[in-house]
Amino acid sequence: MKLTLKKDLLLGVATASAQIEGGDKNHNWARFSEDGKIADGSSILRADDHYNRWREDIDLMAEMGIQIYRFGIEWSRIEPERGVISKNAIEHYREEISYMKAKGILPLLTIHHFTHPLWFEDMGGFTSKESVDIFMDYVKVVIDSFGDLVNEYITINEPNVYCTNSLFYGTWPPEKKSLSALVKAFSNMTACHVKAYEYIHQKRREMGYDDTKVSFANHLRIFAPKKEKNVIHKICAKLTDWLFQGAITRAMMTGKCAFPVMRRKGVKKGRYYDFIGVNYYSRSTVSGIADGVRENCYKNDLGWEIYHEGLIELAQKLYKKYNAPIWVTENGTCDNYDKFRARFIYDQLKLISETENEIVRYYHWSFTDNFEWKEGESARFGIVHIDYETQKRTVKNSGKLYSSIIGNGGVTDEAYAEFVEPSVYKK
Ligand code: BGC
Repeated sequence: MKLTLKKDLLLGVATASAQIEGGDKNHNWARFSEDGKIADGSSILRADDHYNRWREDIDLMAEMGIQIYRFGIEWSRIEPERGVISKNAIEHYREEISYMKAKGILPLLTIHHFTHPLWFEDMGGFTSKESVDIFMDYVKVVIDSFGDLVNEYITINEPNVYCTNSLFYGTWPPEKKSLSALVKAFSNMTACHVKAYEYIHQKRREMGYDDTKVSFANHLRIFAPKKEKNVIHKICAKLTDWLFQGAITRAMMTGKCAFPVMRRKGVKKGRYYDFIGVNYYSRSTVSGIADGVRENCYKNDLGWEIYHEGLIELAQKLYKKYNAPIWVTENGTCDNYDKFRARFIYDQLKLISETENEIVRYYHWSFTDNFEWKEGESARFGIVHIDYETQKRTVKNSGKLYSSIIGNGGVTDEAYAEFVEPSVYKK
């Protein structure tokens, strides 16, 4: 064996509803892409047509041996108008969840992953005062509808990425560039998470369950100074880290708020996680309060540095601070022609398996190629290839490797020679 997986590490895949489902015109990203705002001109209305092909996708997952699946449900389908709940949408998701469970795949349900109904967007989304109550009304519907089927939840995906892109840089809908909007949304999303955490536990307890697990999926990066000894660079790295991820992490996990997160009514100090959900992709190398990539490093097709050690560094740090199992709720890379993804998976799982860390789950992003937000269909993250014209699914070599890793508890000599050896990074 070239690699033996760490004992008890579960392997799976992650997706988000809007990125794969297609067909729903009623959310913020549908309008944004219909307005022609996507880099390659594609529309989220096409995506992977998963809303119709979910059975085929789950079958393929099961064939590949996927053990755990992080997926989303679409708020705009469930509550197309404020207060109006679609029985059809709920029935649809109940069927899909029951099907994956029957195939032996353990579901982890994401409640909010960047998309929400247009009526919510148009009243200000998470910058609105009412957003916490409205979100909580929705969470109640979610738990009433799926609480008997699902015991593991992610309340919100990457509040920092959402707030930064949508409200501060203005590159995502609703294209705002406002520090005050950013602060409002950070603060309200913290309250949404804290209240949802409490509600989901309380409600499922009332339903007679004691196996509830709730957290949020946190986008975390390593921020490194461009010049290691340069004091300004060092200060900028620390400051960017705090503003982008430090403050919101602390607030959502513990209820302790500090700028740029303000404390909202009802948010008390506490422990609002049962696992630490980490989405990890890359390291930022900075010399100012901005993102940056170091020179001469291995990069993916979006120009992001490939730096596997960063995940371990974060996992060790978080465990020390928050003391809970680490679930890698997303990790993967944009590799449009599947030239280096097999090596990426091998290197990352090797580090997870052979270093000191408390990572117990790994959800690869992503199962199928899918609609990569602003980049649309042009950036491919899947271990399964999608032909967007025909919607044909084809398992890539990286997918074959991943499946064989799950089947064999590691990387055999044969799998290494066939998939990892020919797979090489580029600068
Ligand atoms: C998001 C995904 C996205 C992925 C790759 C994460 O930040 O949660 O929705 O597709 O990164 O960019």
